Amino acid sequence: MKKLILGAMMMFSAGTANAADITLPQHSTEGGMPLMEAMAARRSGREFDTKMLSDQHLADLLWATWGISSPDGRRVVPTARNTQDIDLYVLLPSGSYRYDAANNVLKQLGDKDLRSHLASQPFAMDAPVHLLFVTKDKKYGEMHAGSMYQNASLYCASAGLHCVVRGLYDRAELKQALGLEGDYEVVMTEAAGYPKGK
Ligand SMILES: Cc1cc2nc3c(=O)[nH]c(=O)nc-3n(C[C@H](O)[C@H](O)[C@H](O)COP(=O)(O)O)c2cc1C
Repeated sequence: MKKLILGAMMMFSAGTANAADITLPQHSTEGGMPLMEAMAARRSGREFDTKMLSDQHLADLLWATWGISSPDGRRVVPTARNTQDIDLYVLLPSGSYRYDAANNVLKQLGDKDLRSHLASQPFAMDAPVHLLFVTKDKKYGEMHAGSMYQNASLYCASAGLHCVVRGLYDRAELKQALGLEGDYEVVMTEAAGYPKGK
């Protein structure tokens, strides 16, 4: 009986929202630039306003990067055999999070600002949002990350945000800071935010 109650409590806590989680608004389904214009406009931008993205911009950016786009759970980017063996972690000034696309929530992993682990280039501390592509898939993981950062970059171009893909960080240090276990690694990152002075 004790075991049953404990099991039920664990299931309950795994499925419930924590007060520190960020519930996102529904992503936009219209607006933005035509695709060919967004492709032409995509550029790396490294001058960030420190202002946090609006909830809507954040929700749209995350959906464009790793959202679910069909009722059977398929994503906005393809993955080998639809394994979806990659996670989108997000660093904000308020802490570290994992994007739960099915529930449209950023699940808080910790309340420390971990952006300093990405500060090999000083502009990184201005950018309020860092996308981290986390996978243990050695064969396809980096390809999946590439699809995700390209989607994110096209969204940023379309929405007038700045972003830059960043490989200049210490993988072992970031893995430790996030408490990633086993073969999980941050295989690439991308900084995003509003352009400075706009
Ligand atoms: C895999 C990858 C890693 C990158 N790493 C960094 C980085 O650590 N820091 C940085 O400032 N830019 C980085 N970039 C951005 C490139 O410097 C940039 O894409 C390139 O100069 C072309 O400019 P554009 O993106 O404006 O077309 C990276 C880009 C890619 C695709």
